[in-house]
Amino acid sequence: MSFSRRLTRIVLWAHHFVGEVLRPGDHAADLTAGNGNDTLFLFGCVGATGRVLAFDIQEEALERTGERLVEAGAEVCRWEGGELPNRRGVYLIQEDHARLGRFCREPLRAAIANLGYLPGGDPHLVTRAESTATALCAALECLGPGGRLAVVVYVGHPTGKEEAARVERIFVALPPEGWSTLRLSAPNRPSSPYLLLAEKKNA
Ligand SMILES: C[S@@+](CC[C@H](N)C(=O)[O-])C[C@H]1O[C@@H](n2cnc3c(N)ncnc32)[C@H](O)[C@@H]1O
Repeated sequence: MSFSRRLTRIVLWAHHFVGEVLRPGDHAADLTAGNGNDTLFLFGCVGATGRVLAFDIQEEALERTGERLVEAGAEVCRWEGGELPNRRGVYLIQEDHARLGRFCREPLRAAIANLGYLPGGDPHLVTRAESTATALCAALECLGPGGRLAVVVYVGHPTGKEEAARVERIFVALPPEGWSTLRLSAPNRPSSPYLLLAEKKNA
C-alpha cells in the first residue's frame, strides 16, 4: 500500500496508539469485534498471557472473530452467561457493549471501539448513540493509569452524525488534569471516518 493510502487508514492509527502502551500479559477490550481485525491486533499485542474481551451483538461477527483468533493461536472462550473466568485468553461476548462494566474485573490497559456496522453485513445493525456512550464511559472508567481508548467514528451512515456528536461530548468533557485527548481526521474528506483518542494520565 502506498504511503498516502496508509496515511488515511484511520484504523492503523488507532492500532498504533493503543499498541504503544500494550505489553504481553495486559488486559484489553474490543467493544465492536466485527470481522475480528481489532481483536486480532489486540491479541497480537497482549499475547497468550494476556486477556482480551471482545463484544459484538451479532453471532456472525463473533464467529468470524473466533475463527481468526483460533487460527492465530489464541485460547478463545465464548461467554455463555454467568461470571467470566478470571483467566488469560480471548473472551467473545455476545452482548451490548454498554454492559462492559459488568465484565471488567481488572483495569484495562487499552480499549478500541470501531463504530458503525459490520462491513458486508446488515447496515441496520449499527452502533447507536446511547449504548455507544454508555460503553465508552464504562471503558474510560475501566482504564488503568496510562491506559488508552481509541474510537473510530463513522459519520457516513444515517445515524452516524448523531452518534458522533454524542461521542464528541464525552471527549470534550474529560478534565485535562486527568486526561490527554486527541482527534485525528482527514480535513479534505469530511465524511470519512475519524479517530478520537484518550489517555488516562498516571496518578
Ligand atoms: C465497524 S464494525 C467493527 C469492525 C471490527 N472492529 C473489525 O475489526 O472488523 C461494528 C460492529 O459493531 C457491532 N455492534 C453494533 N452495535 C453494538 C453494540 N451495542 N454492542 C456491541 N457491538 C455492536 C456490529 O454488529 C458490528 O459488527
